[in-house]
Amino acid sequence: MDATLIKTGMPYFLHDAFATVGVQNPVDLPQIVVIGSQSSGKSSVLENIVGRDFLPRGTGIVTRRPLVLQLINRPHNEEDSTSADTEKRPIREEIVKETEEKTGKNAGISPQPINLRIYSPHVLTLTLVDLPGLTKVPVGDQPKDIEKQIREMILKYITKPNAIILAVTAANSDLANSDGLKLAREVDPEGSRTIGVLTKIDLMDQGTDVVDILAGRVIPLRLGYVPVVNRGQKDIDSRKAISTALEGERQFFENHPSYKSKAQYCGTPFLARKLNMILMHHIRNTLPEIKAKIQAALAKYLQELAGLGDPLNEGSNNQGNLVLNIITEFCTEFRTIIDGNSQDLSS
Ligand code: GDP
Ligand code: NA
Ligand code: MG
Repeated sequence: MDATLIKTGMPYFLHDAFATVGVQNPVDLPQIVVIGSQSSGKSSVLENIVGRDFLPRGTGIVTRRPLVLQLINRPHNEEDSTSADTEKRPIREEIVKETEEKTGKNAGISPQPINLRIYSPHVLTLTLVDLPGLTKVPVGDQPKDIEKQIREMILKYITKPNAIILAVTAANSDLANSDGLKLAREVDPEGSRTIGVLTKIDLMDQGTDVVDILAGRVIPLRLGYVPVVNRGQKDIDSRKAISTALEGERQFFENHPSYKSKAQYCGTPFLARKLNMILMHHIRNTLPEIKAKIQAALAKYLQELAGLGDPLNEGSNNQGNLVLNIITEFCTEFRTIIDGNSQDLSS
């Protein structure tokens, strides 16, 4: 993992910039949020999309606080060049530590998010949110109303119209019982921002497959489903590398009788490309709104500036520079997002 991963109290650094002049970030960039039942493979899917090992995964309730992960596409610089391997474990340990600080060791949960940033030339600029899975029966230190609490935590993230929902369902469970799909439908009945992700294809009974689901014959989804194969518990225990796992996934789909004719529409690389396309579409659609918000913010600052009086006063000059810097920073950042995401980094 990159040495430049920075822990922060805020999900967006633009947010930070705007906060310095005392206003909320006027721009809400899209977030990708994973939801689904406990141990359906949500954290594994996110790791595969990012292409790095860094999230706590495993059986039982491992993800116990929301994790807001901001990826920022940045060209390589000296800070980035630290070997990934030496940094890998500390990030996962840090997440575990932060989780235990707020929730204890005994399966407790907390709605207070952990915010992380990753700067790397190998990622798309986007924000990913990992969430605890939906469960019904409290265990350990969990409250009696665990189901309701997790549900509310999830709804808080997926209700936002700028959330792109990855509804994760294990392929060896019944799609009609999918908690993720059910919840996604509540906030996105049109299905305009929900992608179905089918995990554990490798664990399906021999002779069964998800071809009917992919073809939209079971529960149709406007943006469709992507089948993936993540690392199993044995792979996690033996620390199988992500690159090895992705190669294994490719071979699995290319050699499987049910999928080999459509292998290009299967697996993590296709999911990443699909996400990127949806994201670009989303950003393009929201551009006019973003522009209007920036103009409104600018007008407000200029008015405040005028109210400060004497333009030769040193203090107000600084204030003017600050506003200018923020606007410039925003424009640069926005261009970085568009440029970084226009290249197809997922293939
Ligand atoms: P989460 O609770 O939804 O975040 O699920 P995790 O990503 O922590 O995974 C839960 C367990 O399922 C782990 O033991 C993973 O190794 C395993 N797992 C996840 N996806 C797959 C998959 O596609 N195939 C196999 N065989 N195991 C998987
Ligand atoms: Na789990
Ligand atoms: Mg998880």
